[in-house]
Amino acid sequence: MCGIVGAAAQRNVTKILVEGLKRLEYRGYDSAGLAVICDQQLTLRKALGKVAGLEEKCIANPVKGVVGIAHTRWATHGKPSELNAHPHSSDHIAVVHNGIIENHAQLRQRLRNQGYEFVSETDTEVISHLLHSLYDQAGSLREALRLAIAEFDGAYALGVISTREPDTLVCARSGSPLVVGVGFEENFIASDPLALRQVTDRFIYLEEGDLAVVTAANIEIFEQSGKPVTRPVDRITETDEASDKGQYRHFMLKEIHEQTRVLRNTLQGRVSKTAVLDGCFGTDAQTIFDQVEAVQILACGTSYHAGMIARYWFEDWAGIPCAVEVASEYRYRKSVVRPNTLFVSISQSGETADTLAALRGSRESGYLASLTVCNVANSSLVRESDLSLMTLAGPEIGVASTKAFTSQLVALQLLVIALGKRAAMSRETEAELVAALHQLPGLCEQVLALDSQIVRISEAFTEKKNALFLGRGVDYPIAMEGALKLKEISYIHAEAYPAGELKHGPLALVDDDMPVVAVAPNNELLEKLKSNLEEVQARGGKLFVFADESAGFMNDGNTTVFNLPHAPLSIAPILYTLPLQLLAYHVAVLKGTDVDQPRNLAKSVTVE
Ligand code: AGP
Repeated sequence: MCGIVGAAAQRNVTKILVEGLKRLEYRGYDSAGLAVICDQQLTLRKALGKVAGLEEKCIANPVKGVVGIAHTRWATHGKPSELNAHPHSSDHIAVVHNGIIENHAQLRQRLRNQGYEFVSETDTEVISHLLHSLYDQAGSLREALRLAIAEFDGAYALGVISTREPDTLVCARSGSPLVVGVGFEENFIASDPLALRQVTDRFIYLEEGDLAVVTAANIEIFEQSGKPVTRPVDRITETDEASDKGQYRHFMLKEIHEQTRVLRNTLQGRVSKTAVLDGCFGTDAQTIFDQVEAVQILACGTSYHAGMIARYWFEDWAGIPCAVEVASEYRYRKSVVRPNTLFVSISQSGETADTLAALRGSRESGYLASLTVCNVANSSLVRESDLSLMTLAGPEIGVASTKAFTSQLVALQLLVIALGKRAAMSRETEAELVAALHQLPGLCEQVLALDSQIVRISEAFTEKKNALFLGRGVDYPIAMEGALKLKEISYIHAEAYPAGELKHGPLALVDDDMPVVAVAPNNELLEKLKSNLEEVQARGGKLFVFADESAGFMNDGNTTVFNLPHAPLSIAPILYTLPLQLLAYHVAVLKGTDVDQPRNLAKSVTVE
């Protein structure tokens, strides 16, 4: 979603702000802007489009200042335009904002009645005028911000500066993430630590309702009640390589190829040769796990697909009833929770607003406990769940989730086994599943080596407007994930169906202009799938079958077969994801779309 960077230093901070924005651009990117204070003057620069445009403006017309705030915007209220880009100012005050102020219309009306004029269509402009209206009576930026946030309904992470306090940056968060970066005689704020890795490796994660006053020399934090509070400083040890594409043309391709290493990481220290190590869920897990009788999974997008796959595993391998739901739906309906149900959220970012709201809403619903499968340590979901299992995929920059998804699947297998062996799973089954997991990284490497064959297949898709993806059983959610990847980065309309559903409607769409992708490991549903694919062939559909080498598919004029090495069935869904990711990637490259930052999308969806 939108990104925030801010700095208070003794040097010109413009470059730090622009570099920070570039690192955040993957989160949301229709426009960018910054504001700095120099010689008691507020200077603003804004540009529509990429941060590079803002950078050019700052070079053509240089800006200097020792305190500043900056923002990349992903439009929620008002179209992408320079006028709607942040920062928004009101006389001596400038504001950057992530989130949504839900009662902006009422506040706007009140401020209009007081004589304020609005130049943008954003909810954020309400904040700058409200702060201005409160400042004189409040006597300080900190107090004005405290009074203002008491009036907001909704979610926010805010950075604010004023020429009346030219050395100070104030910030606050509720519902949207914000960190303070701790430097040497300079300090920073950002919505994601990644934005500040060029200037510091020490971070304070602000808690819900926190407000902070940041100068070059000092950081003061106040909790919601207004009481000063000390928050721990965490040192991030990860290298900075995540923000570098290395030899790859796009982050997405780099992240696809990282999967061999990433999946080894996810497993490391968590499995022996034959078993899942009990300690990997933390010390509190044992007593909770012993009581689990059912699982409810909540997630969005790709993470939801991971949850759908885990449902098959929970019920098939562990005999544990499992329900899966999209978080944005679940949070607004009444649900009946069975006794001893574990609430499991899945999220790459750990900040997805709907998933977080589902977790928060679940607290009064009678769940046994909550567990999150997440990629970002210190994210809100991790901090607010009773238990967490980190996927250890490393920062994922491409908006299209790739390595985060496969590492979620591995982490979910660990969870299924850990719970399963307390239920219906035998030691032999556990040993078989773990042995298969050990084979997974090597098999991924073999599949990724076939990349050039996928480039050839992808040529058949570039002129197409639609595509169908088919799978059966546990491979149906893999087909859904393949379709999501294709639509989000190539903008080809792609839908997934359980292959058995084809004749109940979608078959009407099949003709010789419709590419149909099938996920076909050699499992117990293969023959059923083959019959469904014959229905496609009979209508002249162009079939692209990703199949086990022993599945017996043959290439012909209308059928292209991509053979995958034979793999244990328990890990096949993870393996079959890789060629579908590569297919979407190569189609997008051939079409010339913006692979890492597809239109209208954001990496971390912190608004509902
Ligand atoms: C994946 O390619 C997507 N861009 C998107 O569906 C994503 O998975 C979804 O927004 C959930 O994000 P999360 O995993 O960070 O919660």
